[in-house]
Amino acid sequence: MVTIRQERVADVPAREALLDLAFGPCRFEKTSQRLRDGHRPAEGLSFVATDFGRVVGTVRLWRVAAGEHPALLLGPLAVHPDFRACGAGGALVRRALDDAARRGHAAVLLVGDAPYYARFGFSADRTGSMWMPGPYEADRLLAHELQPGALDGAHGLIFATHLPGERRRTPRLAPAAVHAVLPHAA
Ligand SMILES: CC(C)(COP(=O)(O)OP(=O)(O)OC[C@H]1O[C@@H](n2cnc3c(N)ncnc32)[C@H](O)[C@@H]1OP(=O)(O)O)[C@@H](O)C(=O)NCCC(=O)NCCS
Repeated sequence: MVTIRQERVADVPAREALLDLAFGPCRFEKTSQRLRDGHRPAEGLSFVATDFGRVVGTVRLWRVAAGEHPALLLGPLAVHPDFRACGAGGALVRRALDDAARRGHAAVLLVGDAPYYARFGFSADRTGSMWMPGPYEADRLLAHELQPGALDGAHGLIFATHLPGERRRTPRLAPAAVHAVLPHAA
């Protein structure tokens, strides 16, 4: 029987093997990965699905911002092929969303298949004025508000943000923009 729990350090090798199986080596080339590189997942928001102790599913959430609006990025989500279509993926997403809401997060973004994620409340309705830091398909950039109105007026680059207590990362600016922000720069 598949159960959902928080990820533990000992789960990491099995999680990585599962992601290799689900996505192949190209998984590190996805634009979403640029928002995860060098960052830890949001505190308490990494989950695995297990079957008698074996890791058969994974999902994690990451702190990002869309312009001025803080949010979480969901992914990667994967379930072992032998355990698909049994509800594990849905249970992982629902647990992730429930715990994110309980921790006070306001919104979740992801790049994925709308026909799958619509059942959890995700749509592209709120993402038309946001963009990812690399190539992506606009109709696959989806959002779900955990707090109604959390993404009102959200627009701009989606970028990774640090965990609490660490310095916030400044999004990479074009040279002209840097000059505009720093008028005394040479
Ligand atoms: C997507 C994935 C996580 C779903 O996991 P799962 O445990 O099979 O999901 P659930 O059991 O909760 O839901 C299964 C349902 O979702 C549907 N579904 C699965 N992937 C889908 C997709 N990409 N688009 C639309 N529907 C999809 C199934 O057809 C099934 O439909 P049914 O309920 O009408 O039978 C799993 O298929 C997977 O790991 N895929 C490879 C990695 C991947 O694509 N991850 C998502 C990135 S967008």
